[in-house]
Amino acid sequence: MEAVVRTMLDDHWVSEGYAAPNSTVYPWQWLWDSCFHVLVWSALGDGDRARRELAVALAPQTPSGFVPHMHYVRQPGFHEDLWGRPDDSSITQPPMYGHAVAELVRAGEPVDDEVIERATAGLWFLLQGRRRDPSGLVRVCHPWETGADDSPRWDDHCPDGFDADRWRSVKNRLASTIETGPDGEALANPVFEVAPVGFNALVAFNARELVTVTGDDELAAAADQLVDALAGRWDEDLGTWVDAGPTADGSGRVRTLDALLPLLVEEDARRADRVIDQLLDPEAHGGPAGPTGVHRGEPTFDPDAYWRGPVWPQLAYLMVRAATPRSPAAAEALTRTTVAGAWASGMAEYWNPDTGAGRGAIPQSWTGLALVLARLSL
Ligand code: GLC
Repeated sequence: MEAVVRTMLDDHWVSEGYAAPNSTVYPWQWLWDSCFHVLVWSALGDGDRARRELAVALAPQTPSGFVPHMHYVRQPGFHEDLWGRPDDSSITQPPMYGHAVAELVRAGEPVDDEVIERATAGLWFLLQGRRRDPSGLVRVCHPWETGADDSPRWDDHCPDGFDADRWRSVKNRLASTIETGPDGEALANPVFEVAPVGFNALVAFNARELVTVTGDDELAAAADQLVDALAGRWDEDLGTWVDAGPTADGSGRVRTLDALLPLLVEEDARRADRVIDQLLDPEAHGGPAGPTGVHRGEPTFDPDAYWRGPVWPQLAYLMVRAATPRSPAAAEALTRTTVAGAWASGMAEYWNPDTGAGRGAIPQSWTGLALVLARLSL
């Protein structure tokens, strides 16, 4: 496993200082991918590349703290038509840099003060620079910001129901209605006022992770507020957290794995146990090749379709981290199935939860998280 992951990441390494998710399908730098790559480099014992990739991901940060989700460092100007910015995008992705910094520090790797400052500013941008929903949750400006762009959670925004081609054009249109700040950073989108629980859980979790390094009380308090707001989104009948905003009574209730990410910050034992049970239940999210991205009982569940059912290694990894403190046995089972799936898929971007058949780009760098998972369970 280690040799395979090392070869894959070496093959994907770009001299500008990051691993492409996949050399042909995804040649640019993606923010949350790079944060997960940091964990993989660290598991490979390559602290230099881990540090470099994190620093390069945070380098295009604007003075407001905003961190772009895509960085075209290899070919500046490549997508200026789409974003109105030459070198990077105007939207962000889940701020996994808080966890990346904390994991490096836990591994005994030195992290530059500048990187820690940038990570802190990135979280404050989301906590203060972004519009909030009345529920107290932070809004995203585009489905792409969640990292889960074709999730059934956004289906209410696709006219006449989900269709991959129609949704592609809706996504492109949604990029044109974003309201931006002085440096072109996304602040709001009046056409997509969704405050997803999954994204907010990752903001709170990453803020808390960073606080383990900095001891920053103000950031800790801001994370606690978000955790309180998330508690109000739990639906006892459905057994999931529900997004806030215009989809709250519709697609924002579809049971998806990313909507269970508040498990990362959940303190209520009964609720946490209910979620963990679903992760392994073969009629809910359980699968021999890892946890399904969509609950099997949902009519939209499709085990092979992009974001509509397959296993995603970065979500499976986060669920293992979330389940570990409450149920080491469940975390172990999730690790075992996910690692088996990653392997069977040829280290694919995502895969079928029953057969492990690889889908999307193959191989994909973040699937190197299988090595991180295998190490965790040792
Ligand atoms: C896809 C995924 C997104 C990821 C990107 C690069 O667009 O949906 O989450 O960051 O690929 O891997």
